[in-house]
Amino acid sequence: MEKQQQLRSSCKKCSNRFPVPFLGCALVVVLLFSMASPASSCTEQEKGSLLQFHAGLSQDGGLSASWKQNSTDCCVWEGVTCGADGTVTDVSVASKGLEGHVSPSLGNLAGLLRLNLSHNSLSGGLPLELVLSSSIIVLDVSFNRLKEDMQEVSSLTSVQPLQVLNISSNLFTGRFPSSTTWGVMSNLLTLNASNNSFTGQIPSHFCTGSPSLAVVALCYNQFTGGIPPGLGNCSMLKVLKAGHNNLSGTLPNELFDASSLEYLSLPHNGLNGVINGAQIVKLRNLATLDLGGNNFSGKIPDSIGQLKRLEELRLDNNNMSGELPSALSNCTNLITIDLKRNQFDGELTKVNFSSLLNLKSLDLLYNKFTGTIPESIYSCTKLAALRISSNNLYGQLSPNIASLKALTFLSLGNNNFTNITNTIQILKNCRNLTFLFIGGTNFMGESMPEDEIVDGFQNLQVLSIAGCSLSGNMPLWLSKLTKLEMLFFQNNQLSGPIPGWINSLNLLFHLDISNNNLTGEIPRALMEMSMLNSEKTKAPRLDLRAFELPVYATPSLQYRISSAFPKVLNLGNNNFTGVIPEEIGQLNSLVILNFSSNSLSGDIPQQLCNLINLWVLDLSSNNLTGIIPSALNNLHFLSAFNISNNDLEGPIPSGGQFSTFQNSSFDENPKLCGSMFTHKCDSAETHQSVILTGKQTDYKVAFMICFSAFLGVGVLYDQLVLSRYFG
Ligand SMILES: *[C@@H]1O[C@H](CO)[C@@H](O)[C@H](O)[C@H]1NC(C)=O
Ligand SMILES: *[C@@H]1O[C@H](CO)[C@@H](O)[C@H](O)[C@H]1NC(C)=O
Ligand SMILES: *[C@@H]1O[C@H](CO)[C@@H](O)[C@H](O)[C@H]1NC(C)=O
Ligand SMILES: *[C@@H]1O[C@H](CO)[C@@H](O)[C@H](O)[C@H]1NC(C)=O
Ligand SMILES: *[C@@H]1O[C@H](CO)[C@@H](O)[C@H](O)[C@H]1NC(C)=O
Ligand SMILES: *[C@@H]1O[C@H](CO)[C@@H](O)[C@H](O)[C@H]1NC(C)=O
Ligand SMILES: *[C@@H]1O[C@H](CO)[C@@H](O)[C@H](O)[C@H]1NC(C)=O
Ligand SMILES: *[C@@H]1O[C@H](CO)[C@@H](O)[C@H](O)[C@H]1NC(C)=O
Ligand SMILES: *[C@@H]1O[C@H](CO)[C@@H](O)[C@H](O)[C@H]1NC(C)=O
Ligand SMILES: *[C@@H]1O[C@H](CO)[C@@H](O)[C@H](O)[C@H]1NC(C)=O
Ligand SMILES: *[C@@H]1O[C@H](CO)[C@@H](O)[C@H](O)[C@H]1NC(C)=O
Ligand SMILES: *[C@@H]1O[C@H](CO)[C@@H](O)[C@H](O)[C@H]1NC(C)=O
Repeated sequence: MEKQQQLRSSCKKCSNRFPVPFLGCALVVVLLFSMASPASSCTEQEKGSLLQFHAGLSQDGGLSASWKQNSTDCCVWEGVTCGADGTVTDVSVASKGLEGHVSPSLGNLAGLLRLNLSHNSLSGGLPLELVLSSSIIVLDVSFNRLKEDMQEVSSLTSVQPLQVLNISSNLFTGRFPSSTTWGVMSNLLTLNASNNSFTGQIPSHFCTGSPSLAVVALCYNQFTGGIPPGLGNCSMLKVLKAGHNNLSGTLPNELFDASSLEYLSLPHNGLNGVINGAQIVKLRNLATLDLGGNNFSGKIPDSIGQLKRLEELRLDNNNMSGELPSALSNCTNLITIDLKRNQFDGELTKVNFSSLLNLKSLDLLYNKFTGTIPESIYSCTKLAALRISSNNLYGQLSPNIASLKALTFLSLGNNNFTNITNTIQILKNCRNLTFLFIGGTNFMGESMPEDEIVDGFQNLQVLSIAGCSLSGNMPLWLSKLTKLEMLFFQNNQLSGPIPGWINSLNLLFHLDISNNNLTGEIPRALMEMSMLNSEKTKAPRLDLRAFELPVYATPSLQYRISSAFPKVLNLGNNNFTGVIPEEIGQLNSLVILNFSSNSLSGDIPQQLCNLINLWVLDLSSNNLTGIIPSALNNLHFLSAFNISNNDLEGPIPSGGQFSTFQNSSFDENPKLCGSMFTHKCDSAETHQSVILTGKQTDYKVAFMICFSAFLGVGVLYDQLVLSRYFG
């Protein structure tokens, strides 16, 4: 025992940053104990190393139940596996909630092949003894809080067996170890260092030292500089992922010598230049090419047609231009094509889509394509998402689109398509459609088809036909869309009343019919919308299917779920008359209520004060009379309030959020009085005003917190409204 103690401490001494003496030491220990210990269970020394690791933990996730000083065979400890001879070969304690630091003592386990510490909360550094262990083949410390710079390794260090190193999703900072370090790891196959904060350049000679390197993942770091030409020497490299860094420059020609590449992913960097057709064909095994979010320019080279294995082509958010090469139709394995936000032009009919029978997603948003939708697209029967909005396409929709049985997401908006009647009649047969955006500059000045459509659009959840100046009424066929959650009909010329069946749309929580010519009173039915009444229904359901492609409010904001949208009732800028129904109080989960610019009369109903979730209340430019209900002070989320341009009277409620609203919120109501107006309230008027109670002061504090949170969302909503929905 004493001897062992001595050994352990001498071992501690060499467990420093200098790997060479350490290795020597480990060797001595191994030799000593392989002679001294029985072969069936783990050695005292191994047990000691494990206990030393355990001692470094501040939270052990219950390991101590089996990891005990007096439990003789550590081979039966949780997460420990031994070989036939009793040597510890695996330590796998992932997702155990471990906290504390990683003890270098694990490097003393001379037979350890695999160490998995992933998904814990371990902190401190990664001991070099583990990286340079003379036995470890697989080292996974991903998803922890390890930081401190990675150590450089001297080139004198002997060859290491390490094949898989996963240090991803930690807090590593500083310069990435240089080629010298990677040169030592001559057996390395997989290196994953993504999702840290490494800086500096990507090592230029990865593969001179590690010729077998097959997977390199460096994404989500802060790498700068260019793609090193030396990567071209990585003859075994299959996967290179370095997206979301600050890389710049062009793709070096040498890179294309890495002809085993199957997965080349460099999105969200500052790379530029053109895609060299003569070079790209050298990557014959390429299945994924992701260069999105850079500054690439020029055309897609014709030679792309020779990449027969290509499944995923992402060139979105660049400055690429020209026509699509017809040779693209030779890439018959394509599943995803994402070319959105570029300057591509020409006719889509150049490409024969009939041969792309595996295509599931085609995104051409924001380009300059002209002509009609190629009929050949309708052969792609696996197509689930088609977005060609914001181009210069024209014509009438072909009935053949109904053969796209898998289509769930269709966005045609902001083109120059015509005949909305035809469009609706055809699309109602696309049974799996959940998301439909056809508005924008299409169908300008046509009229809303009103014929009753039975048995169509069964699955539609989001419908946007906004901004087309459509005339006509709210069509009856809408009442059949029982899954509808969001309806965007704003900026048309629709007339007539809000139909009484509106409350049959049980899931509708976002209704924007602003900027139309709708008339009549606000119907009681609208006050019975179940989704807007929190007592009747819970929050909107999450449905990822509706958002097969992310929907953009701005280039940087994207939505994939409808719950990201607030509950909205926007009837603004129409010709509605009559009073605001008292039943408005039932819509207590509403977040945005906008009745502005109509001809509503009567009082602001007291019941409005029940809408405690309101962020935005706009009643401006109506003919409302009477006093402002003082209990509006209870709406402590309210951040935008406008009652200007009415005929209201009496004092403005004091305290609460009312102290934060601008004068302009109350403008053009000559009979209102208050400290902020030239018309001060006389004592009779003041009498009606609220006395700030202690409770309301609490609200004020709560409100200020909520208000700060709202600012972000408020800005976002504006952008949503201003930007054309769903690109
Ligand atoms: C091991 O020690 C613990 C206390 O540390 C004790 O509760 C347990 O009974 C002991 N087990 C054996 C097998 O000696
Ligand atoms: C480590 O364990 C985690 C969780 O069980 C697992 O996902 C991961 O694949 C393991 N790592 C290796 C290299 O096998
Ligand atoms: C770490 O990377 C290795 C190699 O790619 C992989 O097998 C392992 O599953 C990864 N670990 C986690 C937790 O994903
Ligand atoms: C690298 O690790 C991250 C998690 O940190 C994981 O999402 C990614 O798939 C891994 N990449 C490779 C190529 O194994
Ligand atoms: C990046 O790491 C953080 C924690 O370190 C984790 O929460 C996050 O999921 C990781 N991101 C990815 C893409 O793996
Ligand atoms: C995009 O490319 C065009 C040439 O096709 C060039 O004139 C323009 O400056 C480029 N824009 C940017 C932002 O790089
Ligand atoms: C398009 O491709 C399909 C299937 O590959 C083929 O049958 C058809 O003749 C092609 N059309 C044209 C116009 O080349
Ligand atoms: C249509 O949707 C249903 C239900 O989600 C699904 O079972 C079916 O496979 C889909 N049809 C196609 C052609 O994808
Ligand atoms: C849209 O198409 C119509 C006829 O189809 C044409 O008169 C009009 O000029 C086109 N508008 C634009 C902006 O291209
Ligand atoms: C619009 O489509 C309908 C239905 O397909 C058709 O009857 C009508 O003739 C079309 N109108 C025009 C102007 O093409
Ligand atoms: C209410 O709707 C009108 C008409 O669309 C719009 O002009 C106004 O900005 C909206 N009010 C708020 C507070 O968003
Ligand atoms: C509000 O109006 C009053 C009186 O007209 C004026 O004194 C005050 O400066 C105004 N406040 C703001 C924020 O404009």
